[in-house]
Order: sequence, then C-alpha cells, then structure tokens
Amino acid sequence: MKNNHSNKTSHSNKNIVVLVSGSGSNLQAILDACDNNMIDASVKAVFSNKAEAFGLERAKTAGVDAHSVNPKDFGSREEFDHELMIQIDAYQPDLIVLAGYMRILSSEFVRHYAGKMVNIHPSLLPKYPGLHTHQRAIDAQDKEHGTSVHFVTEELDGGPVILQAKVPVFEDDDADILASRVLTQEHCIYPMVCKWFAEDRLSMLNGQAVLDGKALSKHGYAEE
Ligand code: GAR
Repeated sequence: MKNNHSNKTSHSNKNIVVLVSGSGSNLQAILDACDNNMIDASVKAVFSNKAEAFGLERAKTAGVDAHSVNPKDFGSREEFDHELMIQIDAYQPDLIVLAGYMRILSSEFVRHYAGKMVNIHPSLLPKYPGLHTHQRAIDAQDKEHGTSVHFVTEELDGGPVILQAKVPVFEDDDADILASRVLTQEHCIYPMVCKWFAEDRLSMLNGQAVLDGKALSKHGYAEE
C-alpha cells in the first residue's frame, strides 16, 4: 500500500470524510484510488461508531485521522449525530462517504449533508433495502444480484442511484460467497463515483442524480 498522502495534499482540492463500521475494504479502495490519483481528492478523516472497526486501522496505516465515537456516550440518535457532525465538519468535507456504516441516520444529519453524502448498498436497489441482502437474493432465487451507490436521502437506502454493478448468482452460492463477489464490484464502482464527484461532474438535483448535466435513470449510469 502506498502512503504518499503528504505530497497529494498539495494538488487535491476536495476533502473526503469516510464513515465505517467494519472491515473498511471499500474505504481501502477509495484510499488507494486517491493515492494513485484516480480520484483527485484526499481522505481527510475516517469516523466509526465501533472502536474495533478494522477500517480505523486502515485509516491509521494510510496516515489518515481515525476517530471512533461511541453511541453509548449519547442520550439519543440525534445527540450522537449532532456531535458527529461537529467533528466531521472540522475537516471541511466536500463529500461524506458511507462505506459499510451500519447506523440509521437522523434527519438533521441527512439534511446537513444533502447532495454531498453517498452510500454503497449491497443490492440492486430498489430491491432489498435494509439488511441481509445477499441471503434475500438467494432465497428469492434471483439470477443476478449486485450493489448500488446512491445519494443519501431521508428514505433508508432510497436515495437516487448513481451507479450499480451486477453479479451472477449461482445455484450453490451461500451468502458469504455472494457477498465477496459483490464486494469485488463495490471496490470498482465506489472509487469511480468518488472520482466523478471530485471532478464536479456529479450532483443531486430535485431528488435525481445528475452526471455531466444529464439526470440519471432509476438504476443509475450503467443501466442497459
Ligand atoms: C459492503 O458490502 C457494503 O455494501 C455494505 O457493507 C459492506 C461493507 O464492507 N453496506 C451496507 O450493508 C449498508 N447498508 P467494507 O467494510 O469491507 O467496505
């Protein structure tokens, strides 16, 4: 893994803050894409609601500020999110990237970052919002499954889709195998979306994702 953030800072103009709850393999893909200049931006900080999240270790290894904020230290979701917002905003983020961040967001938090917060969800939205998406695709005997990057709105996993990637579902798949096939695709599409955003090509307008001035369809850029 390259670790040349110090010389990137000089030419990068967009600040990214990433939120994780777990392994952070999508965070890693984005860190790597910033490092190799695919994305013209820098990850300035990583936050987690779980102190043990491996994503925080990945951040430290990359020389990026890593913070954990414990929800148990706050009386309500709103208070936790409010504190998180204050800490995030200290980094003057242009883009907030939810990368396996497994917490419901308060309305205030979503509104505060409207149009500058994206999420990756492991299903072909609008199919399977919520949890256990891989098992649900297997149980439904779906022939294809996948992942979606979308802008975050107040509807859970319901914001406009920017980019999806599909994978086949094979008969003997279990949820773990399918999850890892999906993850491989996530590591391609999430950096791509961050790149578009960093280049000012991507925005959310009137509840739609807009790329290069063109409103994207329900399934995002890559709809066949
Ligand atoms: C990813 O598959 C992501 O799509 C999913 O969690 C995984 C995180 O992996 N996110 C959600 O389920 C959000 N609802 P990572 O920590 O290795 O990036």
